[in-house]
Order: sequence, then structure tokens, then C-alpha cells
Amino acid sequence: MIEDLDNQASKLRELAAKAEKERRLGLNPDIVPAQPLTPSGRVSERKVPYTIAVTSGKGGVGKTLVSVNMAIHFAAQGLKVLIIDADLGLANIDVVLGLSPEHTIEDVIAGRLSLDDVALPGPPGITILPAASGVAELADMNDEQRMSLLDHIDRWNADFDVVIVDTGAGISPNVRYFVLSVEKILVVATPDPASVTDAYALMKVMNLNHRLNNFDLVVNQVESARQAKEVYRTLHQVADRFLNLGLGYAGHIPSDGQLVQAVRQQKPVSELYPDAEASKAFGALTETLMRAWRQGRDNDGRATLFWRRILDDNTSTTEGG
Ligand SMILES: Nc1ncnc2c1ncn2[C@@H]1O[C@H](COP(=O)(O)OP(=O)(O)OP(=O)(O)O)[C@@H](O)[C@H]1O
Ligand SMILES: [Mg+2]
Repeated sequence: MIEDLDNQASKLRELAAKAEKERRLGLNPDIVPAQPLTPSGRVSERKVPYTIAVTSGKGGVGKTLVSVNMAIHFAAQGLKVLIIDADLGLANIDVVLGLSPEHTIEDVIAGRLSLDDVALPGPPGITILPAASGVAELADMNDEQRMSLLDHIDRWNADFDVVIVDTGAGISPNVRYFVLSVEKILVVATPDPASVTDAYALMKVMNLNHRLNNFDLVVNQVESARQAKEVYRTLHQVADRFLNLGLGYAGHIPSDGQLVQAVRQQKPVSELYPDAEASKAFGALTETLMRAWRQGRDNDGRATLFWRRILDDNTSTTEGG
């Protein structure tokens, strides 16, 4: 099995290197950016889903709630959504949704099951790929295993319009891989100074070690829009001054008792209390992302492949920063 994974990963690297070389030489300028490249090396006709990673420096700031509630709003627009619980080793989406997965991503990595076997139907229009709770092995995946997992997901997610990756907190190698592989990186922070500092640290590492220079901030658990803007201004200023990156403002979510009640009932607030302030805010956040999605695709007509950025990133597992 490990040999299979090794072969697959090195084949992927070869393909990406070849495509990149052709693009650089101008032999086939369209091949890499315009269309997804299948593992067979052919340009595929399939649609490329909008991939979003939901990250944070500090834990417990609302990543899972943002992921799940955005999914509900995307699905309400008729889009097919996949949520990947990428907090490998500390699963939690299934907890928020009250699902009890029989199988998890761990079974896929071990080669026991396919993604189809493991995927769980969630609320209408939403599929969940559950992580294994408390499996240290997943937290310690090696590069080849991560590559192989992303390759599996990349080939399989063809049917989805939107893929939301709920990452773990902080900057573990797993988190980096998922963050590197998506089109849109959301950083969730609260007005708590520790959360703001940790959000900055996360962006700093991803910027200095992996050349990522575009993030969008979601400020959660705020008392007012003004407080959210204040958090954004602070982060934007330091990022602008010390790092070469653009920080967009994706939106804010108020502290909301109805959201807490929904969590207790293991149901998404947007489903249970659609008129709650938090539900409306999740709706507005999703709207903003849909606009960015449309604009991004219109501007250059291309999307980043789910795994391509990792192949480009020759420092992807270097520690430090
Ligand atoms: N807007 C909000 N209003 C009220 N409570 C909130 C809000 N956002 C988050 N919370 C509270 O914070 C808790 C943690 O949220 P969530 O599980 O989404 O965080 P997380 O970032 O995914 O955590 P972890 O890092 O452990 O995965 C929720 O269970 C809820 O009690
Ligand atoms: Mg979580």
C-alpha cells in the first residue's frame, strides 16, 4: 500500500513538473491554469469546485460553525457542497451536526475504503467527509500520504460545486497542506487579543514559508460591526507593514445565544433559527464569498487545482517561521 502511495505521489509530481515546464516554455500556455489535469495527464472537461479552507491560529474560535453554516447557505443556492473535516485527529463536524460516522478518512488513507464508502450525507445538498476522532496516526501522516489523500479527493470531488475544508487550529503540516491546496483561505479570529495574535502568526508562517499572500478574515463573536472592523484594521495594518500580503474582509458573525442553543441541539443555527442574527451573518458571509468566486473565475477564467499548489510548493513541510 505504501508503495502504491509513493508511486502515485511521484507520478503526480512528474505530471505537474511536465505541465509546468510546458507552460513556462510556452508550448501549451493553457494546459496548467485553464483546466484540471487528471492523473492520466489529460486535460479534463470537468468543473473545478470552489475550494475554501477555514482556518485559525487559535482553537475554539468558530471554524466548524463557520464551515457548517456556510455550507447550509451555499446548499440553499442549489449548490452541491462537500465539507471535509480536516481536523484530522480531532474530528468535530459530525459532533456539530449530530452525525455518527461509521467510517472516516482514516479508512481511506489506510486503503481499506473509498471516499464514497466514507462520505456521509448531511443536511440536504451537503456531504461530509468525516475525520477520525483522536487518531494520532492521522495527525502524523507523511507527505506521501497527504498527497495521496488530496489526490483521491481531487479526483473524487468532481461532482461538488463547493468544497469547504474545516482545518484544525494552528499550523501543523496537515493544516498547511489543506490551506495550500485551496482557492480561498478564510482566517477566523475573535476580538480576543490571543486569537488576533495567533491569526497573525498563522498568516506569517504561510506567507514566509509558502508564499501565500491572500487571506480573508472572518471576525467571529463580535458585539458590533464596528468591533469587527477594529479587529480587521489591526490585523490589516500589521500584515501590511511587516508582511507582503493582502488581507480581505469576508465578514463578521455576532455573538448569538441562539447559535449556542443550536450547538447544544447539534443542529446548524441557519437551519434551526433562520432569522437569528448569526444565521443572517452566515448568509451575508456566504454571499460575499459567492461574489468573490464569480469575480475570480471571470477575471482569468481559471481556478487553482485542488492539489496543484502543493506540487508547486517545494518548501511545503519545512518547519519554522
Ligand atoms: N458567534 C458565536 N456566538 C456564540 N457562541 C459562539 C459563536 N461562535 C462560536 N461560539 C462558541 O464557540 C464554540 C466553538 O466553536 P467551533 O467548534 O466552531 O470552534 P472551532 O474553531 O471549530 O474549534 P476547534 O479549534 O476546537 O475545532 C461553539 O461551540 C460555541 O459555543
Ligand atoms: Mg472545529
